[in-house]
Amino acid sequence: MFDLSSYNTFNLHVSAREGIEIKCTEDLLALDLPLSEPYIILGGGSDVLFTEDFDGLVLINRILGIDVQKVELSPSTVPLNELDQAELFYEVRVGGGVVLDDLIVGLLQHGICGLENLSLIPGTVGAAPIQNIGAYGVEIGDFISSLETINLRTGEKRIFTHDECQFGYRYSIFKEPEFRSFFITHVNLRLSNSFVPQQNYAGFQSKEFKDAFAMRDRVISLRNEKLPNPKYVGNAGSFFKNPYVSKETVEKLQDAYEGKVPCYLLEDGNYKLAAGWLIDKAQCRGLRHGQVGTWGKQALVIVNLGNAKPHEVVALARYVSAEVKSKFGIDLVPEVRLYGKHGELAWDQI
Ligand code: FAD
Ligand code: EPU
Repeated sequence: MFDLSSYNTFNLHVSAREGIEIKCTEDLLALDLPLSEPYIILGGGSDVLFTEDFDGLVLINRILGIDVQKVELSPSTVPLNELDQAELFYEVRVGGGVVLDDLIVGLLQHGICGLENLSLIPGTVGAAPIQNIGAYGVEIGDFISSLETINLRTGEKRIFTHDECQFGYRYSIFKEPEFRSFFITHVNLRLSNSFVPQQNYAGFQSKEFKDAFAMRDRVISLRNEKLPNPKYVGNAGSFFKNPYVSKETVEKLQDAYEGKVPCYLLEDGNYKLAAGWLIDKAQCRGLRHGQVGTWGKQALVIVNLGNAKPHEVVALARYVSAEVKSKFGIDLVPEVRLYGKHGELAWDQI
């Protein structure tokens, strides 16, 4: 038995039949591929919910290493008299097991910017492309030039280009069943030394940021105000994704709530609503059922308030989504990945 308690940020006491830390690509190739038993790939376990013990092998990505290469521009691109102030570009190759926030700090200390709005998001660099993590107007996919993977079904190495990853809101091709066997060993990022403040997020618009560290500090203080630290309160961040709805749905809601419904217009004319707002308005913020609850400062986060059992988390998630459905007629879909005894489960299977 392999104890998964410290490998899931919900801090649930669950186990797997076996667990192995993968420290280099060769560790993966040394496995008897294709694996004959069910397996799950894990990074930091900050976006997963184990609904029971897992009867299979857990592969924990601990591949480290950060390699920074300056990208040479052809001399004709930059006039000689502007070379001193020229923007420099970097190709950064990162082991999938590196902790994302350690990478962000390390890069900033070397004057390499771009990822500062993603500060403090838990988890590993290898997991970040899976759901194209995002916060405060920035998504990791915007910086990914390619991903290096090994297909656990065949043992073959494959590089995915940026376009092949098909990044979207909390989406990449790796969420599709036929791409879940690709273990991301390394992530290649294209970054630069120029700080361009990304201030689309409502709370940032009237602020001035003198450098990327100032942006990072603001992001960290905002996150600390709203989100529980999994070190002290078990959680996996937003439990549900923000739902997409039609213009008509938004108009009706705006009428009912005096135009105060937070929403974001999408390119196709539909809108993204804030699931946290819907849950809040369905009277589900800060509620407590036994050892589980929703966070008082951000209703979208389900928390383990002590020694919760997996089925309590599932029951609360079901309750919250049913309340939202009953009040607004809107379906919530989990962002968190769900796992049962034999592997990944769909929302309607738990
Ligand atoms: P895990 O939870 O270990 O894995 C997540 C999924 O990716 C699983 O399906 C797993 O099988 C797969 N996977 C992991 N590593 C690999 C790999 N190397 N190759 C292939 N598949 C892999 N997310 C955001 O987008 N924005 C936020 O602002 C945000 N805030 C959060 C705040 C808190 C407090 C918490 C707890 C979570 C938050 N999250 C957020 C969710 C989470 O941090 C991210 O999804 C993160 O990328 C998960 O990384 P991980 O290493 O913990 O992945
Ligand atoms: N709101 C409420 N009540 C609540 C929660 C939110 O009224 O209980 C309102 C807020 O006042 C705000 C709106 O809803 O007007 C949106 O809230 P917030 O800015 O906190 O962002 P979010 O949409 O709830 C998303 C991501 C977060 C990410 C933040 C910041 C999703 C599912 N979640 O949350 O990502 O950190 O934006 O960019 O897209 C995660 O994915 O795990 C995660 C934490």
